[in-house]
This record gives sequence, C-alpha cells and structure tokens, in this order.
Amino acid sequence: MALILDGKAVSEKRIELLREAIDESGLSPRLATVLVGDDPASALYVRMKHQACERVHIGSINVTLPADTTTERVVEKVQRLNADPEISGILVQLPLPAGIEQESVIEAVSPEKDVDGFHPCNIGHLVSGRPRFSPCTPLGIMNLLAESGIELEGRRAVVVGRSIDVGRPMAALLLNANATITVCHSRTRDLASITREADLVVAAVGRPRFITADMIGEGATVVDIGTNRVEGRLVGDVDFEAVRERAGAITPVPGGVGPMTIATLMENTFAAARRLSCGPAP
Ligand SMILES: NC(=O)c1ccc[n+]([C@@H]2O[C@H](COP(=O)([O-])OP(=O)(O)OC[C@H]3O[C@@H](n4cnc5c(N)ncnc54)[C@H](OP(=O)(O)O)[C@@H]3O)[C@@H](O)[C@H]2O)c1
Repeated sequence: MALILDGKAVSEKRIELLREAIDESGLSPRLATVLVGDDPASALYVRMKHQACERVHIGSINVTLPADTTTERVVEKVQRLNADPEISGILVQLPLPAGIEQESVIEAVSPEKDVDGFHPCNIGHLVSGRPRFSPCTPLGIMNLLAESGIELEGRRAVVVGRSIDVGRPMAALLLNANATITVCHSRTRDLASITREADLVVAAVGRPRFITADMIGEGATVVDIGTNRVEGRLVGDVDFEAVRERAGAITPVPGGVGPMTIATLMENTFAAARRLSCGPAP
C-alpha cells in the first residue's frame, strides 16, 4: 500500500514557516489578484488565495472587472499594478473570459511581479535551468516530493499532459532536478507502456481516473494534479483506490497538490517582495 504524500500537512508546515519568515523580514509583501468575469470557480480560487495571504501576513487586494472588459482595459489595470510600489506580486486568475487575449494579459505582467510564473520571460529562465518564478502547481509538487524524501536524480519521470501552466513547467523542473523526462499527450501512442516504465508519473490530463493501476509500475511515485468535478465530488486524474495498491507513494485528491499550489503562491509572493526590496534584478 502506497505512502500518502500529504500535501495538506506539508503545506501547513510551510505556511507556518513562511509566516515566521515574513514577520521577521520587516517587509510588507502584497499580492494583487485580477479577476475578470463572474465564473464561480475562479471567484472561489481567488478567495482562497486571499485567505492564504491573511494567514501568512501578506497583504492583498483584488481587482474585479466585468466579463465584457476589453483586453486593453485588463492590460491597463495590470500595468497600473506593475507601477505600484506597494504591490509585490500580481496574479491574473485564469482562464480569462472568451474575447480577452490571454497571452497579451500574461505578457503585460511585469516579470518581476509574475508570481504565477507564466510570463514567457520566467518560462525562459525555468527552461534554461535558472528559474526565477516557476508556476506554483509544478513548483509545489517539487517541494512536496523533496519534503517527502522522494529522490529524482537519475530517475525516469513521465509527465502526462503538456499544458503551458502545468505539464511543460513540470517537465522543466524535473529536468532541472536531473530526472530523465518523457512528456506524453493526446497523440502519444501506447501511453501505458511508457508510464509503466516510470519511477515517477505526474498526471495533468483533466480526465477523471484516467491513470489506472495497470499503467503504473510496482513501487512508482504517482502525483495527481487533476481536479475534476464528478457528481459534486472532486476527483483526480488517477484511479486512486486501485493505484495506491501498486504505487510506492501517491498524492490524494483533495489534499495533495492543491494545498501545495497555494502555499507556493505565498512563497513566490514573498520571494517577489524580497527581490523588489533588493532593487532591480541582476
Ligand atoms: N491542483 C491544482 O492546483 C491544479 C492546477 C492546475 C491544473 N489543475 C488540474 O490539472 C488538470 C490538467 O490541467 P491543464 O491545465 O494542464 O489541462 P489542459 O490544458 O486541458 O491539458 C491537458 C493535457 O492532457 C493531455 N491529454 C488529453 N487527453 C489525453 C490522453 N488521452 N492521453 C494523454 N494525454 C492527454 C492534453 O494533450 P494535448 O496537448 O495533445 O491536447 C494536454 O496536454 C486539470 O484537471 C486541472 O483542473 C490542478
């Protein structure tokens, strides 16, 4: 039976340590969120981020805009936040409503305040092996694996999913940690034969219980990024009950990757405040 990688417990511990570090720093980190439209899930995620800010003594503001806002208007709001010295980090809640050019908005965020790590400049730093801000979900997973004593160096890691916010940065972080990476996607042939060979499988597909026990090698570590709503319940991309019988370690959903993502956003925001307090980046 697999070890459960308890993201909730690890994130709680990191939140406590972060609050102490912020209190001792004398800095006043501040996160600005930008919420466009009235999608209830996006509004909930933004609320959770503000609650986390309160816990670690990070100040926060939320800028709300209606769904029919233009791209230019969102960009203008972001630029104001870029110029505001009181703001350390900016997070634009994604996805943006149809009609708004997401890429233009992401690129408008100053790379120095890009605590989501989605700006092409930060993606470039990550891929070049010198990360500044890395996307919170994959970086949170790296922290969870490190805190759980899961070794990555020289291991075979398979990432299923290649989205720009999850799959690709996950692969880059694992490569930076000297794992040997395979990235799979919807065009991959015979996926199970690839995942079965892996020491670590990261599932970022967005399909409930897509990764089944026969796709996992005995003793492998399985990280489930998926958050799918099934009959009102949150279900991961991994068939948890069956896979835990084969895996060596596994993240649950909920209580695995999700809490680590929010803790990492807080850590990135403090890192941004520290960098800004030291003057322009080298
Ligand atoms: N826990 C968290 O904090 C957190 C954060 C972010 C996302 N998530 C969740 O993670 C999941 C993935 O998110 P995402 O943004 O990466 O989703 P996404 O943009 O929809 O990407 C899904 C990926 O899965 C691949 N895929 C689809 N069907 C496949 C198949 N049959 N075999 C192999 N690969 C397949 C796609 O391949 P193609 O590229 O070929 O289309 C794509 O690369 C979602 O459930 C999302 O809600 C959770």
